[in-house]
Amino acid sequence: MKRDVIVACDFPSAEETFAFLDRFKEEKPFVKIGMELFYGAGPEIVREIKARGHKIFLDLKLHDIPNTVKRAMAVLSKLDVDLCNLHAAGGLDMMRGAIEGLTRPDGTRPLLIAVTQLTSIDQTRLSGELLIDRPLPEVVTQYAKNAKAAGLDGVVCSPLEAGTVHEACGAGFLTVTPGVRFSDGATGDQQRVTTPAKARELGSDFIVVGRPITAAADPIAAYRRCVAEFLG
Ligand code: C5P
Repeated sequence: MKRDVIVACDFPSAEETFAFLDRFKEEKPFVKIGMELFYGAGPEIVREIKARGHKIFLDLKLHDIPNTVKRAMAVLSKLDVDLCNLHAAGGLDMMRGAIEGLTRPDGTRPLLIAVTQLTSIDQTRLSGELLIDRPLPEVVTQYAKNAKAAGLDGVVCSPLEAGTVHEACGAGFLTVTPGVRFSDGATGDQQRVTTPAKARELGSDFIVVGRPITAAADPIAAYRRCVAEFLG
């Protein structure tokens, strides 16, 4: 799949999501459906957005025992999404189970990526709250290597880590990076942010952008600015 901007549709309902997507007349953005929308609107929202011609990243970040994740992934594989994810913190067996569950009888499956560390986690939280004493970049690299060893296609990470992940896991290992903000925008709860242009420079394959587009006065202009900065 080629590099792209993924729009995080973090809305509580189908109505609000379609009101937002209806504003796009010329483009069909790659859409991320996260917990808020999926839990609020149910699996039907995935089918509806897919039917409108959008690619879909289903961002449910699964994290449970291997058997539970495998079975949940088997259900999700029927939704025909392009990309889905889990937490690498769940371990190698959980990730292997996920691939197994996701693989359809004909051998095809959506791409599967792992969250390394949330972009809202910084070194202080990592060591102070989670008692993980290693440097954050080392933790991210190790989780990425685990994801690759389990057969996953890439990771969700900060754009600041995209280069290191590619070095450790190869150029073809996807880096999908949230925590993107325009140079003149608010950062909100994201701790480690970069601009779309910087994310490109750092080697991100996909950027995930929510509020800088969804909460913009002119979302179409913000989306286009993002695409122009990221794809060049
Ligand atoms: O609004 P904003 O641009 O911060 O949205 C970022 C999106 O990416 C959110 O939907 C958030 O859940 C998701 N995400 C993230 N950090 C991760 C993984 C996913 O911000 N590590």
